[in-house]
Amino acid sequence: MLVSLAPAQTSPPLPDRRDPDARRTESAIDSILAGLTPDEKIGQLIQYSGDWTTGPQGRALSTSQQDIVRAGMAGSLLNVFGSRATRELQRLAVEESRARIPLIFGLDVIHGFRTIFPIPLGEAASWDPGAVEKSARIAATEAASAGIGWTFGPMVDIARDPRWGRIAEGSGEDPYLGSAMAAARVRGFQGSSLSDHTSIVACAKHFAAYGGAEGGRDYNTVDISERTLRDVYLPPFKSAVEAGALTLMASFNEIGGVPSSANRQLLTGILRGEWGFDGFVVSDWGSIGELRAHGVASTSAEAARIALDAGLDMDMMSGCYRDNIASLLRDGRLRSSVLDEAVRRILRVKFRLGLFADPYRGVNPEREKTVLLSSHHLAAAREVARKSIVLLKNERNLLPLRKDLRSIAVIGPLADDREDPLGPWAGDGKPKDVVTLLEGIKRALPATTRVIYAPGCMLAGTDTAGIAEAVAAARQAETVLLAVGESASMSGEAASRSELDLPGRQKELVRAVQATGTPVVLILMNGRPLTICWEAENVRAILETWFLGVQTGNAIADVVFGDYNPSGRLPVTFPRSVGQIPYYYNHKNTGRPPVDSVKYTSHYLDLPSSPLYPFGYGLSYTTFSYEGITLARPVLGTGDTLSAAISVSNRGTRGGEETVQLYIRDESGGGGVTRPVKELKAFRKVRLEPGETVTVGFSLPVSALAFSGLDMRPTVEPGTFRLFIGPNSAEGLESGFRVKEKTAR
Ligand code: NOJ
Repeated sequence: MLVSLAPAQTSPPLPDRRDPDARRTESAIDSILAGLTPDEKIGQLIQYSGDWTTGPQGRALSTSQQDIVRAGMAGSLLNVFGSRATRELQRLAVEESRARIPLIFGLDVIHGFRTIFPIPLGEAASWDPGAVEKSARIAATEAASAGIGWTFGPMVDIARDPRWGRIAEGSGEDPYLGSAMAAARVRGFQGSSLSDHTSIVACAKHFAAYGGAEGGRDYNTVDISERTLRDVYLPPFKSAVEAGALTLMASFNEIGGVPSSANRQLLTGILRGEWGFDGFVVSDWGSIGELRAHGVASTSAEAARIALDAGLDMDMMSGCYRDNIASLLRDGRLRSSVLDEAVRRILRVKFRLGLFADPYRGVNPEREKTVLLSSHHLAAAREVARKSIVLLKNERNLLPLRKDLRSIAVIGPLADDREDPLGPWAGDGKPKDVVTLLEGIKRALPATTRVIYAPGCMLAGTDTAGIAEAVAAARQAETVLLAVGESASMSGEAASRSELDLPGRQKELVRAVQATGTPVVLILMNGRPLTICWEAENVRAILETWFLGVQTGNAIADVVFGDYNPSGRLPVTFPRSVGQIPYYYNHKNTGRPPVDSVKYTSHYLDLPSSPLYPFGYGLSYTTFSYEGITLARPVLGTGDTLSAAISVSNRGTRGGEETVQLYIRDESGGGGVTRPVKELKAFRKVRLEPGETVTVGFSLPVSALAFSGLDMRPTVEPGTFRLFIGPNSAEGLESGFRVKEKTAR
């Protein structure tokens, strides 16, 4: 028998009118709505980009930026920032427009505003929601000081295909880790009080399943089951909403034939009906206009009607709402209550942000100057950056290096690069703020060490002229740090790749430097997993550093010389080859699970079934051992909580942090729905000094084992479950427990 948990809600909830604040806000919105003209209402639904260019479907604006704001024809501007510009535009809105409704200024503040932190995928590798929350808090504080009230983040898309460049912007492949990171970022952006002048509104994007693009090609079709949507792609969005995210962005893609900007089931049924979300939804850039290219609307008027009816409140840059809502209302093709509801949601968020109380939110040039790039922010960026680094290989303990080296070669196209370490979506980040790897290494070493630098080759292209110089540098040095990877523009939006090897001539560079015999530490900088089988086989040490932001060189030097013991763990599987993609640890067993040498099982003839590096993997300069899983009770009811513990010891000679990961496998069967071979359900980071042993305990409510049952409702199956606790998704100790049938009363 299947046990269904909470039934799905069906009707959209309203803000709780018993709460006096909510009641006051709703009645203030009632009176604003009563005084607005239809055009002014439509204006609230429109978002323009401050650079006055329009998107692929847009056309040039005929009136000036100021006139549009004065006329009350914009509810929000994006890509305008800086205290002076935003104050002036806000003044026009609240002093010179008739309705005097403040603007909300939006920007992609994805991993920092001016103090750039690691890309989100890198931050996720810290497995440290506290650190990630702090990073988002600093980003919010800086952005708010420059007049921004709303970020288009966090990006919470699950990504199982590293060809997709936007994998860099999210937290990887796992719904549980992704949900933890989503909530942490929302808490960081929105702070404990949204009306505080250091807080900004969060926007969970891209709703939904944008990461499921076929072939990893950006904007491509997504065709997944409702169960996969609900169990894999939606949990981080739900987590963001539960953490209080006040806006969501609809995704560009379709799911099973329905583009998200036209998806009423998603934007209204699930989001508002089931989850009780009462904020607003913004389109992606031009996505309402793109409903024509998708083929579900034949005119821009039709696109506007479908989108607004579906529950899409604000139009980012398509012009469809601006050009059509008035006539749709006149012709009776759109109900005025639909427009009013969308305006209400937008005004509600503006109220919660405190814009009606103080439209300027305390923004001024002096505050902006002291906040941006403050020493406290830079210190936090260094801390988060070093936590994001993953040690993938360390043969015969090549790392950490001693600081009394006579010579070291710092080689590679990224070794002294100050642009690419900022990564994609770098806000107002500036290359001049970046500490390059070379600079960080020089700062960490005494003047007596000879540091030899050679770029070797470019990130892309075919020029091999610099390789000889790099080889000569390697020959003169005791050790080589070899920084290779991708350019920032190879990941992020519209940056899908069909091959994931090191691009350009970098593979040749690595081989040539490795052939010198000088020990090589490979330092990878990239926005996604790369296929690095040869390198992993041959080079002695590998550090995955993603794009670490302004503190790149300092953070890597901290790890290279052992001032920080690396603690990052992969938030995403590293495949051996593009041919294995999509490859994720929480896959299904199939009816014929892979046995590499056995015909008629689910595997490739020419590749092992294992990944190069599994999800959750990462080494340390010390070694941790695991012993004895204990369970408080091996048989549980559906309302119970599983209590498990394991003892973890530091067997090495350095203090370090271990991320203890708990996975389950639902073996109960019988419910008619297959379950993944493993699912992460909890993790805890612990710091252990040499020789220390701790007992790490977990409490897991049985309700956390729920999945979408045959009837699509959250379901826990009675039966047996395997339990794994260990250092990553492929290793660990095993135990089991049973969930019993609910007894009839
Ligand atoms: C398009 C991107 O898909 C989205 O993530 C971003 O927020 C908007 N452009 C605005 O820059």
